[in-house]
Amino acid sequence: MTITFVGHGYVGLVSAAIFADMGNIVHVIGHTEEKIENLKRGIIPIFEPGLAEIVKRNVDAKRLLFTLDYDPAIKESAAVFIAVGTPPLPSGEADLSVVFAVAEKIGQHLGGYTVVATKSTVPVGTNAKVKEIIEKAKPEGAEFDVASCPEFLREGTAIEDTLHPDRVVIGTESKRAEDVMLELHKPFNTEIVATNLETAELIKYASNSFLATKISFANAIAKLAEATGADAIEALHGVGLDKRIGKRFLAPGAGYGGSCFPKDVKALIAIARAHGYEFELLNEVERINKEARQDIVRKAEKMLEGDVKGKKIGVLGLAFKPDTDDMRDAPAIDVINALRDKGAEIKAYDPEAQENAKTIIKDTEFAKDAYDTVTGTDLVILMTEWNEFKEMDLAKVKSLVTSPVFLDSRNVFNPKEMTDMGFAYMGVGRT
Ligand code: UDX
Repeated sequence: MTITFVGHGYVGLVSAAIFADMGNIVHVIGHTEEKIENLKRGIIPIFEPGLAEIVKRNVDAKRLLFTLDYDPAIKESAAVFIAVGTPPLPSGEADLSVVFAVAEKIGQHLGGYTVVATKSTVPVGTNAKVKEIIEKAKPEGAEFDVASCPEFLREGTAIEDTLHPDRVVIGTESKRAEDVMLELHKPFNTEIVATNLETAELIKYASNSFLATKISFANAIAKLAEATGADAIEALHGVGLDKRIGKRFLAPGAGYGGSCFPKDVKALIAIARAHGYEFELLNEVERINKEARQDIVRKAEKMLEGDVKGKKIGVLGLAFKPDTDDMRDAPAIDVINALRDKGAEIKAYDPEAQENAKTIIKDTEFAKDAYDTVTGTDLVILMTEWNEFKEMDLAKVKSLVTSPVFLDSRNVFNPKEMTDMGFAYMGVGRT
């Protein structure tokens, strides 16, 4: 099948490459000439393990075609995916301006029957608006249907998550559109949830918001563990063994960041409010998540006898999670800004996100590796659980710091081992 993706970010580029790898002809439409030219040469604008090889293989096989033009891509395609960003507005609502602008351009270039599927995460009711926009923009006689086809990719494992999805969700109002989407998704060999537009849109927000709720629940349990002398990691391990609950997304720590959870929780709260429902549970999920970052700052002060002013703090990890270069809403940003505002001197390092971080985190020294980061510090804070940090020689770390004080916001290390080595150690929810 010939299809088109409009947008080549974390979602569009990965999805397009996988569909091409399955034998489809996939046009990818961008709007920045430099990025499109780089993609044609296999230069990938994002860090995603394994993506470069798949893109190169399919560019060489002429199945993956990058272009700035809607013609002839749209006319040749049985399905066109909208995969552009929907960042949060100040109100928390999703900014749909790019989605609507792209929908109009797709409409203008329609030829034969085409399914226009929105893969971007959009509020319930958006696909109905996309349909109106295309209806107005399309040439006489052009036939189309809209569909909602949300994605569930995690950065850092996006290839795996695309190849082996737990489910494919397809929301449509027409059997004809459903048949095209079922045909296209057959090779994924997983359960297909075929439903209406609004339900498909809601599944995406509800999934991300529930995962964020699990994380905030874990962080609330961590606070209770610290207050009662329980160990949150062991407690939540015991909880997660219940198959109805599941072990994943119950890791307490600095809380969730990234381009999705914060945005989608805010958007679902905004959608609910717009429909007369105050989603108090999610308001609390957000509050707990914000508090998780504040607690890291509070613990840093506590470990430095109540005052970080003039103290040297080494921060290991900046990205919102390992295996990505993405700094969007990374907990490290708030933690470093708060500590620097209190007078601390910060030296930071991240294996992949450092260049992105330099454009966001000011007045901060950036180190060349983990050991350089900790050298001469009064406190080390681990913010992102990169494997590089898990494998550090802790005896060497201890020899390099000025005082062996270690704040582990992702519970990477074992409290007893750390204290036996002579570190003053704190984790999140640890005894
Ligand atoms: C998430 C969803 O998992 C994915 O399905 C959706 O399509 C996009 O949003 P992503 O944001 O890439 O994916 O990363 P994820 O692995 O979900 O982690 C999100 C945040 O939660 C990270 O900051 C991570 O550190 C944090 N997290 C995750 C926890 O704090 N505890 C956990 O147990 C799991």
